[in-house]
Amino acid sequence: METSAISGFSKLSLEEKIKIIKDFANLDSDDMGLIRKYQELPDFLELENNIGPFKIATNFLVNNKDYFVPMEIEEPSVVAAASRGAKLVRSGGGFNGRYLDSKMIGQLQILEVDDFEEGRKNIVKKKAELLEIANRANKKIVELGGGAKDLEVREINTEKGKNLILHLIVDTLDAMGANIVNTMLEAITPFVVELTKGKPCLRIISNFADRRIVSVECKIPIQKLGIKNYAGEEVAAGILNACALAKADIYRAVTHNKGVMNGVDAVALATGNDWRAIEAGVHSYAARNGYIPVTDWWKEGEFLRGKIEVPMAVATIGGATNSKKARLALKILRVQSAKELGILTASVGLANNLAALSVLGTEGIQKGHMKLHKEFIKLSESNRQA
Ligand code: MEV
Repeated sequence: METSAISGFSKLSLEEKIKIIKDFANLDSDDMGLIRKYQELPDFLELENNIGPFKIATNFLVNNKDYFVPMEIEEPSVVAAASRGAKLVRSGGGFNGRYLDSKMIGQLQILEVDDFEEGRKNIVKKKAELLEIANRANKKIVELGGGAKDLEVREINTEKGKNLILHLIVDTLDAMGANIVNTMLEAITPFVVELTKGKPCLRIISNFADRRIVSVECKIPIQKLGIKNYAGEEVAAGILNACALAKADIYRAVTHNKGVMNGVDAVALATGNDWRAIEAGVHSYAARNGYIPVTDWWKEGEFLRGKIEVPMAVATIGGATNSKKARLALKILRVQSAKELGILTASVGLANNLAALSVLGTEGIQKGHMKLHKEFIKLSESNRQA
């Protein structure tokens, strides 16, 4: 079966849901064994597409590929919202995403450089050699087509004096990149010290991942946006007003972005990714010229169009992505690369944003949210008493 648009999926029995996911992702007996283990845990609740290790969002169509999305999050309404947002977007052809760039930056801080211009010139002259030293520190990533690609020298005035800051720009491919970048920075440090006659201090990746940006767009026929007593036009107007406020006011912009991160973090957690790094990256990117919302919505003819642009330092190899649970999540997603996972993850953030804004500007979120939340509390209570 090649579609994740299963009408009434959340109403199916647990076994029916598992069978659909098993067939879709070709799960084997080891995968099924892992799922069953999570279902046997005392805290397992059969609520809102929870299959055990994580909950599953439906309806995602991204770059013409279907996805069931594993989400690790305690709040069932976030998963329901992601599926609803994705269903709306699917009605307009799905999400279209691409990476604008996919490199990480590492910073090497050099103190006490007497002749800054001389230091800069020496580094630039020896750039090829420095990149070679960096790349010798991780031959595997270079063989795969990644590695240190460039460097830049910056002058930063700090309260403790002038620093020479070297930025090492590294294509980390399917890895998040912290270990690769940090090792490379440590490898080049002695030579940079020789070239600048300064004193080394920090050697660490920057989580302001502004060279690893994903952009995803979508469009929804306005008439499809209607909710209960609200026509599509009214829902669209609510979304546009919400966006306008988020652009004008940081109190709203932060909450707007928090709603985006509900989806992003849940996918990052399910797939074993460093959600704190992703949070840091997204919020710092939102704040690069004064804090703004990371999504935008606007009207174009019969359509509501939406866009998200965020750094997305996600990995499909290394670190906790190697855990059994994360491998299972990646298998259910059927993603082939970190780039594909990044585009999908940003799409989930956009879906959650759409779902939140569409109800916030009309009937309010409490009704739907509290219905699921009450069920969640009731099941948790009876679980505790059992
Ligand atoms: C709650 O977890 C998320 C929302 O506050 C997001 C938003 O206000 O856009 C509903």
